[in-house]
Formats: sequence, structure tokens, C-alpha cells
Amino acid sequence: MAKTVLVSGGAGFIGSHVTVELISAGYDVVVADDMSNCDLTCFEGVKKITGRDNLPFVKMDFCDLEAVHNLFAEYHIDAVIHFAAFKAVGESVAEPLKYYNNNLTSFMNLLTVAHAQKSGCNVLFSSSATVYGEPDVLPVTEESPRQPATSPYGNTKQICEDILRDCVKAYSEGEGALKGIALRYFNPIGAHPSGLIGELPRGVPNNLVPFITQTAIGKRECLSIFGNDYPTPDGTCQRDYIDIVDLAKAHVCAVGRMIDEKMENDYEVFNIGTGVPVSVLELVNAFEKVNNLKLNYKFAPRRSGDVTAIWADPTLANEKLGWKAERSVEETLAAAWKWEQRIAGK
Ligand code: UD1
Repeated sequence: MAKTVLVSGGAGFIGSHVTVELISAGYDVVVADDMSNCDLTCFEGVKKITGRDNLPFVKMDFCDLEAVHNLFAEYHIDAVIHFAAFKAVGESVAEPLKYYNNNLTSFMNLLTVAHAQKSGCNVLFSSSATVYGEPDVLPVTEESPRQPATSPYGNTKQICEDILRDCVKAYSEGEGALKGIALRYFNPIGAHPSGLIGELPRGVPNNLVPFITQTAIGKRECLSIFGNDYPTPDGTCQRDYIDIVDLAKAHVCAVGRMIDEKMENDYEVFNIGTGVPVSVLELVNAFEKVNNLKLNYKFAPRRSGDVTAIWADPTLANEKLGWKAERSVEETLAAAWKWEQRIAGK
């Protein structure tokens, strides 16, 4: 019988892509989302891509403990992937309580209920490379030290990792046993090649690729490249941009590792990146080239809180998860552009 995976925050950007890959790998999926930061566009897209018209969807807030209990009473959940969280770095600085309340409470509720199940549960937490701060040594491995978080958002990622580690340590055996994996994403970008699901930022995008595509389509006048005086080859920041479909597949590998009892430790952490640094300028140039257009951009002062350069050493994920990033930056940027054109109705 197919195993069932609960995807909290499953109607969002990463959650919808993960749902597609889980279904194509043969899992049953229950999508839960409070819809506070998305509409049904991606969920409808997932149903179209997978042909699952009856894909279970539960509109709920994970801060509501009773709702989480009810969800687990209705479905037998073998693994849960937790995306349901707020994610705007700047907003988290302005409204820390909103972030601590939501991101920590929802995750603790989930663990509380998962631990209350006789059969226990496998828990995958969506963490971020933001936990490494400004690294001293590149690329970063999972052993690289975590740095003090520079935002409440980043802090919630670190705290949730710690909560999961501690719960797994305390509850690894017997009834209600928990196993956990934290995936540290580098910079997820792109969209599904079908053009049916992608990123839908509300208001002015903070992240680079949605800002690029919105500028290209004419929604924004000009992209500001934040800083061209960094100590990098071309003066702009370097990141590890990971294709969203590749990233989604890493979740399928990680869930399989937990469900098939292949874990070497009850709590494991993996970097999910390509291992290749790409500068802002290189990304802009690649976008122009692959989509055959000119982007209006200018150099602007540095953005506060940005790190100069960070990219992953993904060896551990390559070896232990049997996962590797496969799609080129060009394919990824073509998919992002296809998606932007589709949502603009062009
Ligand atoms: C940020 C978050 C990270 C989160 C990720 C989600 C921090 C410090 N960063 O990463 O935790 O997981 O988003 O995708 O917490 N840029 C421009 N112009 C723009 C927008 C961005 O030049 O209009 C540059 C930035 O300076 C940066 C690069 O593009 O060098 C990537 O920025 P962004 O997409 O916002 O991601 P990060 O800041 O790396």
C-alpha cells in the first residue's frame, strides 16, 4: 500500500513542486495549507500535472493544535514535510512576534501530534542555508558552524532545527517514535517546466528571480543589483541557485530514506544545492541570453543583511540521499520566464 505524506504549506511555491514529485514517485499526499500567503493557482496546477482531481486538501492553520489532531485522526500519516511558515526576512525584523509565534508554534504542534501517534512519524523540516550566516570557508558542509541568525526568520530556522533534533533524541524509540531530517536549501528558483506551477510573490518581490521576471514582463521598471563592490570575481554577490524541481526531488529521496529505514542517525541534516556559485550579474546575463531579451537593470547600494558569497558542498546529499542537482541554470531561468508569462496571461 502506498505510504502517505502530509505536506504542510503544500499550496505554496516549494510545497506544490514537492507534492508533484511525491505523487510521481508513488506516494499518496495530503496537502494542508492556511492559504495565508498563496491562492489556489498552484494547487490547481498540481492537480493538472498529476491528473489527481481528488488530491486531498485541508485548509487549516498549524497553530491550531486541535486542527492538527483532527488531521492526524482523519489520515494515517507516514511522513510529514513541514513548509507552513512565514518567510519574508525584512518583515520578520519588523514583526518578530508574528514570526516566532507562527513558525515555532506550528512546528511544535506538528511534533506534538506526530509524537502522540502510536506509530510515531517521520518529519522533514525545510531549513535554509541562512543558518550558516556569512561563512568563513566555502563551500559550506553540514559541519560548517551555524552563525548567530541575522533575522527572526533565520532564527526560527535554527530553533526549529534544534527542536527537531531534541525531539528525535528524546523520542527515537517505542511508541510515538520520531525520526527527522532537516534539508538546508540554498536559493530555490525556477518553476515547473509545464508552466503550471511556480512562485507567486505578493507585492514587490524580495527575491532576485521573481524580481527579474517581473521586470522583464514590465511589472517592475528596473532591477536594482544590490552592490557591485563585493570581493567576488565580478563584484556582485554569489549564491547557489537550485532548481525548484531538483530541490523537490531531494525531498522524495529524503522521505524514502526515512520511510525505508535507511537513516544512519535518527536526525540528519543535508545541504541541498548545486555546489556551483553564480553571481547576480551572471544570473542576469544567463536570463537575458536564454530568453533572448534585454533586462533593464542598474547597480544600487548593497542591501543590508546580504552575505557576500555562499554555496553548498552537496556531497553528503549526493552520497547518502542518492540525489544530485541536474537542471542547468539556463533551463531553470527559461522555466521561470515561461511561468511569469503564463501568470501575466501572455
Ligand atoms: C534569502 C534569504 C534566505 C531565504 C531565501 C529564499 C537571508 C539572509 N536570506 O536569500 O534565508 O532562504 O531568500 O529564497 O535570510 N538581489 C538583487 N536585487 C534584488 C533582489 C536580490 O541584487 O532585487 C541579490 C541579493 O543582493 C543577493 C541575491 O540577489 O545577492 C539573492 O537574493 P535573494 O533572492 O533575496 O536571496 P538571498 O538573500 O540569498
